[in-house]
Amino acid sequence: MHKKVTKAIFPVAGLGTRFLPATKSVPKEIMTLVDRPLIQYAIDEARAAGITEFIFVTSRGKGALEDYFDHSPTLEAELERKGKTDLMEVLQDTYMDSGAVAYVRQHKAMGLGHAVWCARRLIGNEPVAVLLPDDVIASDTPCLKQMVEAYEQTGGNVVAAMEVPSERTSSYGVLDVKEDMGNMVSVKGMVEKPEAGTAPSNLAVIGRYILTPDVLGHLDTMEEGAGGEIQLTDAIAKEIQASDNVYGFRFRGQRFDCGSKAGFLQATVAFGLAREELKDELQGYLNELAAVKQAAE
Ligand code: G1P
Repeated sequence: MHKKVTKAIFPVAGLGTRFLPATKSVPKEIMTLVDRPLIQYAIDEARAAGITEFIFVTSRGKGALEDYFDHSPTLEAELERKGKTDLMEVLQDTYMDSGAVAYVRQHKAMGLGHAVWCARRLIGNEPVAVLLPDDVIASDTPCLKQMVEAYEQTGGNVVAAMEVPSERTSSYGVLDVKEDMGNMVSVKGMVEKPEAGTAPSNLAVIGRYILTPDVLGHLDTMEEGAGGEIQLTDAIAKEIQASDNVYGFRFRGQRFDCGSKAGFLQATVAFGLAREELKDELQGYLNELAAVKQAAE
C-alpha cells in the first residue's frame, strides 16, 4: 500500500508580468475564467482527487488570494438578509476547513523548484501533489484524480504529460521516454526548456505532479538550471537517476495554457460554452463572427 496523497502545493508566487497591467494589483491566480478565479479550478481539481491539505507558496502582493479563501462576514450577512441563498451556495466552494490551508512565503523569485522546496517542512515524509494554476484542464475525470489512480498503481512519481509540436518543446519540461506503455510512459530523463532541435521527445510536462519526498530532498542542493532558476524538472531528473521511479502520464482532457493571453481567451470560450446558462448566447455570437468572416473572404 502506498501512502495516500493528501497534501498539495500550489505555487502562486509569480508576478504574472504577462498579464500586466491587470496583475499590477490583482494576483494572476485571481483572474477570472467565466466567473471563478483560476485558483478555484485548481482547488476543485485537488479536492476531487482527495486532497485535504492545501499549501500555497505565495509572495508579496498576494493578499487577495488569502482573502479569497476566507469567510467574508459582511458579504455573507448581507446575502442572508436579502435571502440570496443561491449566491450563498455559490460561495460554499471558496470555504476551506479550518487549518486546511497554509501559506508559505517565497521571498525571492528563484524558480518553480525553489517554490516547491519552500513548502518542504509542511510535507515531511509524504507524497505530495503540485498543481500549477496556470494550466487549466477540462476533463470528465479531473486530471489529478486520474494521476492519483496512476500513482496508486505505481507508487512512483507521476508527471502529467502531453504531446506538443516540435517548435513548442522549448517552452516546457520534456520527457526522455524509456518505455511507452500508452497512458503511462516510464522515463529515463527529463530536460527543462530544451533548446530548439534538442528535445528528447515531443512529450511535454504539464503543471500537475505527484512527487515522492525524495524529489523535495534533491531540491536541497539549490543548483541552478535553465534560465538561472532552481528547476523542479532538475530535481525530478535526479530522482530518475537515483530510483528509476518516474512516470509520465498522458491524461485524458484538454489543457489550456492560462499563463498566455491566447490560452486564457480560448479557455474562456471553452468554459463559457460548457455552461448551460451561457452556451446558446455565446455560440450564437461565435456563429455570427464566423459568418461575418466568411462573407468578408
Ligand atoms: C513550468 C515547468 C515546466 C512545465 C510547465 C507546464 O514552466 O517548469 O517544466 O512544462 O510549467 O506549464 P513555466 O511554464 O512555469 O515556465
